Amino acid sequence: MKLDQLGHWQRTHKCIDLRSSDEGTEVILMGWVNNRRDHGGVIFIDLRDYTGLTQIVFGPQHDQKAFDTSESVRSEYVLAVRGVVARRSKETINSKMDTGEIEIHVKELKILNTCKVLPFQISDENVEISEKNRLKYRTLDLRRPAMQKTMMLRSRAGQIIRNYFYENDFFEIETPFLTKSTPEGARDYLVPSRVSAGKFYALPQSPQLFKQMLMVSGYDRYFQIVKCFRDEDLRGNRQPEFTQIDLELSFIDQDQILSLVEGMVVKLFKETIGVDVPNPIPRMEYDYAMEYYGSDAPDLRYGLKLVNLTEIAKTCGFKVFAGAVKQGGIVKAIRVPEGATLSRKVLDDFTEFVKIYKAKGMAWVKVNEDGWQSPITKFFTEEEIQSINEATGAQVGDLILFGADQAKIVHDALGHLRKEIAKKQGLIKDGDFQFTWVTDFPLFEATDDGGFTSSHHPFTMPNEADLLEWKDKDPSKIKSVAFDLVLNGVELGGGSIRIHRQDIQKEIFNLLKLSEEETQEKFGFLLDALEFGAPPHGGLAFGFDRIMMFLTNTESIRDVIAFPKTQQASCLLTEAPSDVDVTQLRDLRLAIRKTQA
Ligand code: AMO
Ligand code: AMP
Repeated sequence: MKLDQLGHWQRTHKCIDLRSSDEGTEVILMGWVNNRRDHGGVIFIDLRDYTGLTQIVFGPQHDQKAFDTSESVRSEYVLAVRGVVARRSKETINSKMDTGEIEIHVKELKILNTCKVLPFQISDENVEISEKNRLKYRTLDLRRPAMQKTMMLRSRAGQIIRNYFYENDFFEIETPFLTKSTPEGARDYLVPSRVSAGKFYALPQSPQLFKQMLMVSGYDRYFQIVKCFRDEDLRGNRQPEFTQIDLELSFIDQDQILSLVEGMVVKLFKETIGVDVPNPIPRMEYDYAMEYYGSDAPDLRYGLKLVNLTEIAKTCGFKVFAGAVKQGGIVKAIRVPEGATLSRKVLDDFTEFVKIYKAKGMAWVKVNEDGWQSPITKFFTEEEIQSINEATGAQVGDLILFGADQAKIVHDALGHLRKEIAKKQGLIKDGDFQFTWVTDFPLFEATDDGGFTSSHHPFTMPNEADLLEWKDKDPSKIKSVAFDLVLNGVELGGGSIRIHRQDIQKEIFNLLKLSEEETQEKFGFLLDALEFGAPPHGGLAFGFDRIMMFLTNTESIRDVIAFPKTQQASCLLTEAPSDVDVTQLRDLRLAIRKTQA
């Protein structure tokens, strides 16, 4: 087929623009063929661009040549048409379409390009397409109106965020991608250097150290919407490259950061999806979150709080409980209102579920009219049963689920079990957005080998009160000035006040068991900078992709990223990662070692 050139044609309108008030106007529209209906002497096409659809009509009475040419048009051909806006007759008005009152009587048609048979329908919103096909044919997938809506909302969200920060005296400054490792807890992506053979750059896991350097350089308020790279397990809402909304400020305290960020979140949710976020956003201390939700990212859309039964369990006759306490563990429970009707199968499923989190079991009790129904009733005295009922607030018809073990395991298991119960029991309302700040994180977390690692990153300032006596303190008891923003159980962002004094920073590296040499090699430039007049500073970073998941109400992070990676960190569109030319390897002085199968 001979294709037409655009020539001097200029589009006069987008496909959503025209109304009956435009009747009689001559227009030029361009777009894709959404669908085509051949009614014998007349052909109807819905022409589509990113804004929407307009019906264009071909008939001998409008133009014979255009009518003849339109015979060959198929789905997703790219057309330009010149025609006249006409009102539709009453019976043919389509109230579901923005342009449903009009149609274009086509005088001239240019076929700008054809389209092969499609792997899936683009025009049909309800068609189920496998994720593999969507990612392989991402160009077409992104052309689907639903994806276009998402990507446009993402662009709009970015604009709102940028405007907000500019209005609040922030500078947008780019930081390098070819850099040194920034410790955020994941593996680095490495890039070999050709010029310095045998050496590697690391792609940044975040701009953390650069933004701190910018504060030392006096830029006062920095932000960037920036790609970060982390080679980690790609469960759920994680991607190997993802986007952060990254900020850092000088001469501020935690309250000022939180309230500035609240302003951004409130504006963003209101102006994109019309949701009112409470301002200020409620706060919860880390210890409270762990005690009652078993998680540092509590989902507050439902109750199912954890109840601490350690005291009662300590002396009870059930060995699993008393034994756990004896070994320094805890016993906690969740009351499931009206859960006594749950089947044995569901309880067995819950028991299997908690085992994912290393729990050894999950004792349960159904509270019936005539008392407890449970395999463990016999181990408890009447008083103990009474105390547990009171502590949990259990009523007739409820179910109580128990976890007994070291605190970490109980919290992990019951914390996740809460979510599972809420999902299974339908306790989550659509369109409910429950935000909370989680503050006062511990500075360190214990590692399995008896050491410590930073809960956030090693540049986080210890709590002021702890700072005075912190060298004599058990490191696991030191709190930090770190905070996360959590929405519906998902960590949207996190930040902290940073260490701006070299002595404290050195001491932290010391506690983390980094040798003097290692510290100098990895963070020498930071320690230097801290001695050159570093102001007090702090900041935070949001996961932009995660925010977009909420704004578009999707469970998949791949739905909000134009060109995402699969769980195996590959791009099905470009087939990256891929082999490279041997000459490229030679230039880099690299060789691939074949491992034994
Ligand atoms: P953090 O490591 O908590 O903090 O990252 C900030 C936010 O980024 C998002 N995020 C991710 N999103 C998608 N895929 C991933 N693999 C991924 N990893 C993290 C999360 C997270 O809350 N430099 C510090 C911030 C600071 O202290 O200023 C940092 O990077 O939403
Ligand atoms: P057992 O005495 O091992 O048969 O366990 C009795 C009940 O206690 C079962 O429902 C187990 O699932 C449960 N159970 C076992 N270990 C634990 C634990 N660590 N925490 C909570 N419940 C447990």
